[in-house]
Amino acid sequence: MCGIVGYVGDGNVYDILIKGLHRLEYRGYDSAGIALGTPSGKINIYKSQGKVSNLEDFCKDKNLEATSGIAHTRWATHGEPSDTNAHPHFSEDGNLALVHNGTIENYKVLKDALIQHGCTFHSETDTEVLVQLIEYIKLKNDCSLLDAVRMALKQVVGAYAIAVIEKNHPDKIIAARNSSPLAVGIGNNEMFLASDATPFVEYTNECVYLKDGEIAIIEKGEPLKIVNLDNRETQIDVTTLELSISQLEKGGYEHFMLKEIFEQPTTLRDCIRGRVIEGGKKIMLSGVIDGKEKFLNAKRIVIVACGTSWHAALLGKYLIQDMCKIPVEVEYASEFRYSNPILDEKDVVIAISQSGETADTLAAVKIARNMGAYVYGISNVVGSSIPRETESGTYIHVGPEIGVASTKAFTGQVMVLTLLALSIAQLKGTMTLEKISWLGEHILKIPSTVEKVLALNDKIERLSMKYTYAKNCLYLGRGFSYPVALEGALKLKEISYIHAEGYPAAEMKHGPIALIDEEMPSVIIAPKDHVYEKIVSNVQQVKARGGSIIAIVNEGDEIISKMADHVLEVPEMPECLTPIITSIPLQLLSYYIAINKGKDVDMPRNLAKSVTVE
Ligand code: M6R
Repeated sequence: MCGIVGYVGDGNVYDILIKGLHRLEYRGYDSAGIALGTPSGKINIYKSQGKVSNLEDFCKDKNLEATSGIAHTRWATHGEPSDTNAHPHFSEDGNLALVHNGTIENYKVLKDALIQHGCTFHSETDTEVLVQLIEYIKLKNDCSLLDAVRMALKQVVGAYAIAVIEKNHPDKIIAARNSSPLAVGIGNNEMFLASDATPFVEYTNECVYLKDGEIAIIEKGEPLKIVNLDNRETQIDVTTLELSISQLEKGGYEHFMLKEIFEQPTTLRDCIRGRVIEGGKKIMLSGVIDGKEKFLNAKRIVIVACGTSWHAALLGKYLIQDMCKIPVEVEYASEFRYSNPILDEKDVVIAISQSGETADTLAAVKIARNMGAYVYGISNVVGSSIPRETESGTYIHVGPEIGVASTKAFTGQVMVLTLLALSIAQLKGTMTLEKISWLGEHILKIPSTVEKVLALNDKIERLSMKYTYAKNCLYLGRGFSYPVALEGALKLKEISYIHAEGYPAAEMKHGPIALIDEEMPSVIIAPKDHVYEKIVSNVQQVKARGGSIIAIVNEGDEIISKMADHVLEVPEMPECLTPIITSIPLQLLSYYIAINKGKDVDMPRNLAKSVTVE
């Protein structure tokens, strides 16, 4: 996810763009850049790695005179975060500058063809391919920028929101979208463009959300014009913005955490895209292909991680052992590094970290590499330290996670681990093609299933009232639901400060059962799986001691539903895919309990998003 801003008008172009970038920083913050179209027919581009504030420092002594401009805050997908890979990108002759949010799936084919035509590339981005392609078409056909953009986009496969400016027409922006958001703000003799309305809500409340396949012509002194790829004018639907700036910064949600919980259908779609192909028959994880021999010959896999990522790791163990028949050990990175680990070149170490910067996980990676193990990283932040230190890996592609409590990163990590296990199983032949394809089909249904689970929101909000003042809470699950119980308990304690413990349900009778009374609620995760009958008896044990029960069960459950005090029903999925589904009601439950208690859910006390110290 990246953020785009554009402006044409008599206002202070630079100030408007920079302020807009700050508003969009939640979409990405690894580098930022700005292109200013000057009245004398020049384009000045300034870029800087890091946050928007770095760009501001960089621009302090620069010529900022402009009548139009486009700007970008980046969340790297192709190419590491760097000044060179930051947007905007120039065309080879310097006539055009372009910003882009999205992923061009056929960029390699286009790039190779352009290289054959003599184009030189300076960055590793898919975006530079777009600007070079537009320029190439423009020169070849001696046509307008609009026509060149139309023709270029007809060749492009993938998601994009783009904005392009041209040296000789400094009062004009051409913008287009397909699958990535783009909104135009219509002001008084000025027009704005942005990934969402936050950058212009204080200047105008007239907003046009572009639709897929539309191209906007934004020109000073002219009314907004929108055409399709065949140059036919389309109807302009103007929306009146009613949201306040503060709401919009969180996309209309009260907190980043809630926004991130609700983003999960999209983030999971992004995580799966291009990795489950042929309708589910094939799983393609490039990192596994890179490390094919190592995974095929691994005598053991060790997964290292911290916090929520460690809970995902535990699920990784169940998935890999089950599907690939390779023994797996899961270690807290902070323990692993001081445990005199025994590793050699036959071991594969997987490091999981949303931020890619957690100090203990990074240290574990270095130890594993020094001992000769093959190290694979699973991260969210492109270009962060862990992906840089590992030999291969996979990004979860869920976009910036701002809320300290990890939500969408957890489901993204579990998704990637599932795909990892399936792709190793595919290579090793430890699963039948039918089983892989059956699971692949279900994986493709996960985003829409998660949408259904999110419909429980109102019910969970009401339910949360009953448990707001609980002092303790037990989370119980078995098999694939045990790590979900751990994660549910962590979510509750970190944002509501209620003591919560996750436990394997069967272990309860070896101690924790002593805690159960009317004051001690239990959240029991009990989808229909191979241990369902076993967990029924655990539910009975809690019930017999007067404990109240919130049960997460599958739709149509008849046994546990009758015993539980409150039931949250989720759609049935193959057993190994249930954690993604069952963890979502637990995220919402902890969110609402913390809200009822008036806690700062996005920035809970004593916690940082990225733990870069020991
Ligand atoms: O960035 P990482 O995934 O390495 O972070 C690890 C933990 O600090 C993190 O998961 C933490 O437990 C979360 N705040 C939990 O919601």
